[in-house]
Amino acid sequence: MKPLTLAHTPFNPSSESLGQPSDLSTRLRTIDPALDLESEIVRLKGEMNATILAHYYQDADIQDLADHVGDSLALAQAAAKTDADVIVFCGVHFMAETAKILNPDKLVLLPDLDAGCSLADRCPADLYSEWLKGYPGHTVINYINSSAAVKALSDIIVTSSNAVDIVRQLPSDVPIVFGPDRHLGNWVQTQTGREMVLWPGFCIVHEQFNARKLAQMRTAYPQAVLIAHPECEESVLNQADFIGSTLALLKYVQEHTEQTQFIVATEVGILHQMQKSRLDAEFLCSPPNSGCNCASCPYMRLNTLEKLYLTMRDRTPEITMDEETRIKALRPVQRMLEMSKNLAPVQQKGD
Ligand code: 13P
Ligand code: SF4
Repeated sequence: MKPLTLAHTPFNPSSESLGQPSDLSTRLRTIDPALDLESEIVRLKGEMNATILAHYYQDADIQDLADHVGDSLALAQAAAKTDADVIVFCGVHFMAETAKILNPDKLVLLPDLDAGCSLADRCPADLYSEWLKGYPGHTVINYINSSAAVKALSDIIVTSSNAVDIVRQLPSDVPIVFGPDRHLGNWVQTQTGREMVLWPGFCIVHEQFNARKLAQMRTAYPQAVLIAHPECEESVLNQADFIGSTLALLKYVQEHTEQTQFIVATEVGILHQMQKSRLDAEFLCSPPNSGCNCASCPYMRLNTLEKLYLTMRDRTPEITMDEETRIKALRPVQRMLEMSKNLAPVQQKGD
């Protein structure tokens, strides 16, 4: 089959690609600048019986207000077991969608509907479905960083925490298609020895680390330990001392107290929890190709404390999806949760 290529395009958050109209009124609503946003958010949380779930890539002020802070798997697990009436998701669209897939009767709010993801946005369901026709009989494994419509085309969903373990659980003679992150897929191949057909998607944040500058940095800081997320390119991962999901990187830092200097090749938001739990350690950002010194996800940054307050005050914008897609997407998400049960338990704020 002809290899598929996806061009690099500049960041242009557009909810058109997410299949939902942008809630422009979010941008136009105003807040009294004297308002104590933190205490208002806490008050609204109680009034609404809401839970706030925040990814590690959110700003520190949002993480500090959240009931659960975690990586994609931990947040999906938290969404699956919450008894709150409202889920306020501080993360990106596909994460909030996953919460909705698991909780059709709850109100799921996302502070900014335009908080997309380069992986999900560059894997449209119609193109993906056509592409899959070239691989009949394959088990379709999809990274959670995908739309509900793409999840609906999958057999099993994985995250960076459980992808290796889940692939290892599959019979060795089952051919696998893996989407949409080629770097995570490639890393899973090296860990499991399984060849998989890869969709050529990438994360614009993790793909920007520069392997040559990183090698120079390692020479300048010989004591530093390099920890990297598997969404990074192979040339970066090949240099790493430890590779893991956002939560696995945090746990590595917490457990390796003999190390006091870390080079971190992932999104800068995680440094908040790393710094909080290791006051004695120094964290250096892995150098990107160009621009500022840290890798910041522009989609995650669309959520702010102000928008978090507004979304709770006005109970909008909310995540919606058609029931047929939701039911089809639910099965592979549930399969993931089932196949992750025996993984080492994860500790997170809120447990
Ligand atoms: P994890 O939360 O699985 O580490 O994934 C990182 C990421 O890029 C989320 O969008
Ligand atoms: Fe998507 Fe990358 Fe941002 Fe995560 S960091 S939400 S994978 S663009």
